[in-house]
Amino acid sequence: MSHQTVIVLDFGGQYNQLIARRVRECGVYCEVKPYTTPLEQLRAMAPIGFIFTGGPSSVYDENAPHVDAAIFELGVPVLGICYGCQLMAHTLGGQVTAAQADTAREYGKTETYYDTSCKLFKGLPEQGVSWMSHGDYMARVPEGFALVGHTDACPNVAIADEKRGFYGVQYHPEVNHTQHGVDMIRNFLYEVCGAVGDWSMGDYKNTAIRDIRKKVGDGKVLLALSGGVDSSVAAALLAEAVGSQLTCVFVDHGLMRLNEGDEVEAAFARWDIHFVRVDAETRFLLKLAGEAEPERKRKIIGEEFIRVFEEEAKKIGRVDYLAQGTIYPDVIESGAGDAAVIKSHHNVGGLPDYVDFKEIIEPLRMLFKDEVRQLGRELGLPEYLVSRQPFPGPGLAIRIIGDITKEKADTLRQADAIYREEIARAGEDQNINQYFAVLTNTRSVGVMGDGRTYDYTLALRAVTTSDFMTADWARIPYDVLDRISTRIVNEVGGINRIVYDITSKPPATIEWE
Ligand code: XMP
Repeated sequence: MSHQTVIVLDFGGQYNQLIARRVRECGVYCEVKPYTTPLEQLRAMAPIGFIFTGGPSSVYDENAPHVDAAIFELGVPVLGICYGCQLMAHTLGGQVTAAQADTAREYGKTETYYDTSCKLFKGLPEQGVSWMSHGDYMARVPEGFALVGHTDACPNVAIADEKRGFYGVQYHPEVNHTQHGVDMIRNFLYEVCGAVGDWSMGDYKNTAIRDIRKKVGDGKVLLALSGGVDSSVAAALLAEAVGSQLTCVFVDHGLMRLNEGDEVEAAFARWDIHFVRVDAETRFLLKLAGEAEPERKRKIIGEEFIRVFEEEAKKIGRVDYLAQGTIYPDVIESGAGDAAVIKSHHNVGGLPDYVDFKEIIEPLRMLFKDEVRQLGRELGLPEYLVSRQPFPGPGLAIRIIGDITKEKADTLRQADAIYREEIARAGEDQNINQYFAVLTNTRSVGVMGDGRTYDYTLALRAVTTSDFMTADWARIPYDVLDRISTRIVNEVGGINRIVYDITSKPPATIEWE
């Protein structure tokens, strides 16, 4: 079945996939295409609308990305965001200049006023906070355009040519900081492009299954299963697509949480899939011994995972495909395209240069965490698996700051188990999206009984987030923190001080390494 399609034309901004997911969230199918895609190809997709993304350039930069002006002759509505807005204005005869005065250059949350007679803002409040990030300024808007949004500093942060269905906004409606931003995107889709909402996660599932079958044929697939949400959903998807050709390999690298290996095995024992558990604690700890640098640790783990999978594949024989539950934030944080490497997620940037499989299959690569959960529900996974908090592939290795030893891993495992137990007992697990303990590499002096101690400081981390790309630190009640602290210091040897991490992402990340 074909769906109405919206094309997100990518000019290299950092929120491009976020735009795509907003469109999906509104029940409309969408594809992200590079701005270099030939116009003929775009036209052949018969889109009902285009969204031009933001990007790092200025329209008058020498090598700034441009569009074929004929795109505006297709009779298809366009929403330009940030750079996309300036590009549209520039291409249609307006004038964009570098903002001279600080007044027209805006970053961050900005009070914005909207003309609610414009379709883009239909039914929304006349005023709200928007997330700005632009250094350029539209000195003159193109003919046919009206000003439909402004801030105190800037008269034209939103422009519209309603006759032709062209809209441009200088701010980012796709980020959570923009109040009613998703409603504006929904208005563009439904009020301007005539969307009917004919797409759902069920469609994604069916398309993904069809694509996997086509790619794999009668080949064999080995899935790297960690028991976390992403790889479990990937397992369910592959099981449905190519069940009998699939082997799920769970590598216990000795850096799992308390009892986790057994729990994963038990969860998957109920399914009719070929499941292999590999006990690889010794070889992982040996490879990691003495290594304290976070990126090196990640790379060692990424490589060792692959070596174990290769060995398992040899035992099965003739396995062409390695499947992973990679999701979009893994890709972006590992540095996609020109984006900076934040940290090498073990399954992306942590991969070794040589991988002895014909191909890697990553059916969740473009999805955000909450979409993955939705897909898991579509696939009929039990709620306890789907709503589990994420656990990173490198496991406790990136929660033990400095070098890793089995003793440190055991200490952290115990402390983390108490933390999770108390959070669940207080019912706080319903409000917090991810929480875990970190064994810092700092030791400090304490007093226990009549004696001096010189032990490790444990940090508690808890965040609320919907997409794990940004996150806020969770406000755990003091009495709960108090109980956790008392229990850990009393029950776990080697820890004499507990601190609570009160940084959001950004500027911190969720994990410490
Ligand atoms: P950060 O620390 O980048 O984490 O804010 C964002 C989310 O990603 C998880 N994470 C990983 N997941 N492999 C994974 O499968 C990794 O290498 C990895 N590193 C971070 C992290 O737990 C959080 O949910």
